[in-house]
Amino acid sequence: MAYGLRIRVNERSWRVDAAPDTPLLYVLSGELQLNGPRFGCGLAQCGSCSVLIDGVETRSCVTPVSAVGDRAVTTLEGLPAWYARQHGLPKPPALTPVQQAFIDEQTIQCGYCYNGMTIKACELLSKTPRPSEAQIRSAMNGHLCRCGTYPRIIKAIQRAAEAARATAISEHRQ
Ligand code: FES
Ligand code: FES
Repeated sequence: MAYGLRIRVNERSWRVDAAPDTPLLYVLSGELQLNGPRFGCGLAQCGSCSVLIDGVETRSCVTPVSAVGDRAVTTLEGLPAWYARQHGLPKPPALTPVQQAFIDEQTIQCGYCYNGMTIKACELLSKTPRPSEAQIRSAMNGHLCRCGTYPRIIKAIQRAAEAARATAISEHRQ
């Protein structure tokens, strides 16, 4: 049976033929071929499937596609455009400061947690541009890294916050 739901993902409207209770993750990776969000636990416990829905980090493995409604879904693939909109940039950067900082701090080992860590860090910095270490630890608490790169993740988020601040100051001066 074709259900013909419509969802908005990465600034595009998509028609999906999924049953209403299908997890959003399956629609993103199966129908839309977006491979940023990953299946980990399937139980909202690890964060590897996270996306932003109207800017709020959401576990797509336990979110029925019908629950999205007309809210905007942003996946890892759409983060640079999302960041540009947040900061009023004329065009998306190649990578968000968080993504660049994860590279610079050599944070990623196997990479399985990368999607969720990045999505959550972007959400955190959008709400709290200058987070303390305690705030970072608290925000990232529900995201599991089986390779144990937590200290590097914290450093990367601090680095991203610095980079975003420097960009904002230089834009203000122009
Ligand atoms: S796969 Fe969704 S939280 Fe683990
Ligand atoms: S880098 Fe392997 S799970 Fe985090």
